[in-house]
Amino acid sequence: MPLKDEYLLPAAADMHVHLRNAPGPIAELVTPTIRPAGVDVVFVMPNLAPRPVVSVDEALEYKRQLQAIDSSITYLMSLYLHSSITPDEIRKAKKAGIAGVKAYPKGATTNSEWGVLSFEPFHDVLKTMEDEGIVLNLHGEVPSSPADGVTVMNAEAKFLPTLRDLVTKYPNLKIVLEHCTTADAVETVRSFGENVVGTITAHHLSLLVDDWSANVNNYCKPSAKSPSDRRALLDALVHSNGKFFLGTDSAPHDITAKKGPGNTAAGVFTQPFAIGYVLTALDEALARGDVAPDAVTDTALAGFLSGYGRAFYGVAAAEGRIRVRRGAATVPASFKGATGAEVVPFRAGEGMWGVEWV
Ligand code: DOR
Ligand code: ZN
Repeated sequence: MPLKDEYLLPAAADMHVHLRNAPGPIAELVTPTIRPAGVDVVFVMPNLAPRPVVSVDEALEYKRQLQAIDSSITYLMSLYLHSSITPDEIRKAKKAGIAGVKAYPKGATTNSEWGVLSFEPFHDVLKTMEDEGIVLNLHGEVPSSPADGVTVMNAEAKFLPTLRDLVTKYPNLKIVLEHCTTADAVETVRSFGENVVGTITAHHLSLLVDDWSANVNNYCKPSAKSPSDRRALLDALVHSNGKFFLGTDSAPHDITAKKGPGNTAAGVFTQPFAIGYVLTALDEALARGDVAPDAVTDTALAGFLSGYGRAFYGVAAAEGRIRVRRGAATVPASFKGATGAEVVPFRAGEGMWGVEWV
């Protein structure tokens, strides 16, 4: 049984987005695409350059700038785990409604040069986060190191012992293993209590290693992996029970940073069709036999796309409703801003599920 042609769902929540500096040409281009995609709450990542978001005041100013672009979205803000952050700043963050602190292993991904080499020096900050109920958001990869046998293909698996250590040391700390890409990561997240969850992107539900090795617009960190890993992600979606929810990791880069001279920037831009990409991936998974048809229930979809993420972050259940219809949209070749920015979306040129607010 294929998917239905139409779903009526609660407004979606995207708990991992990159909106870039605001004001700024990319933020002004991508922020207005959140709501048309059927999303009304986003968790905003702090890896801005040339300076990440490391203080509560900076996070609140960033939030004001995003609200100036679209005031109809709830922005959950985060800090970038950094040596300048003190336990007092964490307590201030809690009072200010900051939702999480994101840890980037130094050198693992875009704008991670200010990231962490070890979690040991952050003991007091992590303890305070555990006490205050501030979420630790993990980019779960170790940096590539050929001498140690680490490449993009096993970088996530090699991070999992660090996750286990953190859970042992801080048993009540709320942790999100962001953008899980492997069966190992899914299994590890499932092995912990309800304070440890995982996000899954839209693009990792359909991409494999061969897709990004052939197309820079499919390249991101962590990179897409094997068919069995993808099956595990699809299974985590339909059998989440609150353990896994949507965080697209929509990561817009100007076309010149993807295709210009030098290394290509990591990041897949999925914001404008966040929900459509998930349903397309499920359509394809059903056709391959990767997902049992009766597993794709309205309850599973509503939980993964909306309810589970809101519940984890303490955001009220969705009030808005969206209708998602097969084939009602087409992904454009690119998105162009008023000031020259140009970003190529995932699955450019393809027919797509369309979203209507009802
Ligand atoms: O592919 C990625 N792009 N992965 C990340 O972790 C960061 C993101 C970005 O900021 O572009
Ligand atoms: Zn990200």
